[in-house]
Amino acid sequence: MRALKDLMTQRFAKATTSYEGAAKAQEAIAERFLERLHVKGFPKGVRVLEVGCGTGLFSRPFQEMFSPSALTLNDICPSVEEKVASLCDARTQFKAGDAERLAFEPSYDALVSCSALQWFEAPGDFLARMAEPELTWIAFCAFGEGNMREIKAVSGVGLSYPTKKAWARMVPEDFEVLVCEEERLTLWFDTPLDVLRHIKATGVGGVARVRWGKEALGAFCTAYVEAFEDKGKVPLTYHPVYVIARRKPTRSR
Ligand SMILES: C[S@@+](CC[C@H](N)C(=O)[O-])C[C@H]1O[C@@H](n2cnc3c(N)ncnc32)[C@H](O)[C@@H]1O
Repeated sequence: MRALKDLMTQRFAKATTSYEGAAKAQEAIAERFLERLHVKGFPKGVRVLEVGCGTGLFSRPFQEMFSPSALTLNDICPSVEEKVASLCDARTQFKAGDAERLAFEPSYDALVSCSALQWFEAPGDFLARMAEPELTWIAFCAFGEGNMREIKAVSGVGLSYPTKKAWARMVPEDFEVLVCEEERLTLWFDTPLDVLRHIKATGVGGVARVRWGKEALGAFCTAYVEAFEDKGKVPLTYHPVYVIARRKPTRSR
């Protein structure tokens, strides 16, 4: 698992320049996540920790919409710091490191994360550790079991993602789940090679540790087209799961 994390970190580090041009699905997901936060009354002006901020695709509109009184942007890839530097000021700071291992201080009112928790080794343990008494909101969007299903179907390899139910179950007991919704977002490409280029440019490496020779790559492309081609295009499906939870009120005796 550690090796997978290192591989993922290398891939994101390489993709920081190409990410925002290619991450059309993640951009749409960030927008939809923000809408849901707004609808559910996510508060303005509170102390927020965002884990897995990447190049700031979600962080930028989030900061604009909710004006946190303090915002810590975290990512395991130190190289994204320059990408989020324009967001940093007296109230906003960047902290590099593996969120599952870092000690975050001071306390936060809210923990948010967009398209990142599926890379964690034990996201449920992470949420439980972060749910200290002052934390009132836990809101994240992460990928579900149908994510990049085409890659898995054709190559037989790929990450295993939790189901919507499993993501909801990771929310600590003291929190009420206000939103638990899933979507399927499909991007269409001219060829399977374009699908692979897209995956590489976003750094999300859904194909795990596969290094294909020419023959295997050819076989992959043929099988992909046979299985999924529609009107001259091939799909790649994203499966985001949105979870927004608020701490349950404590009962007074
Ligand atoms: C798909 S990108 C999403 C970036 C951004 N939140 C967005 O919506 O575009 C996932 C990010 O999570 C980061 N990440 C993955 N595992 C992490 C961990 N354990 N701790 C902190 N960041 C992590 C990756 O480096 C990457 O930048």
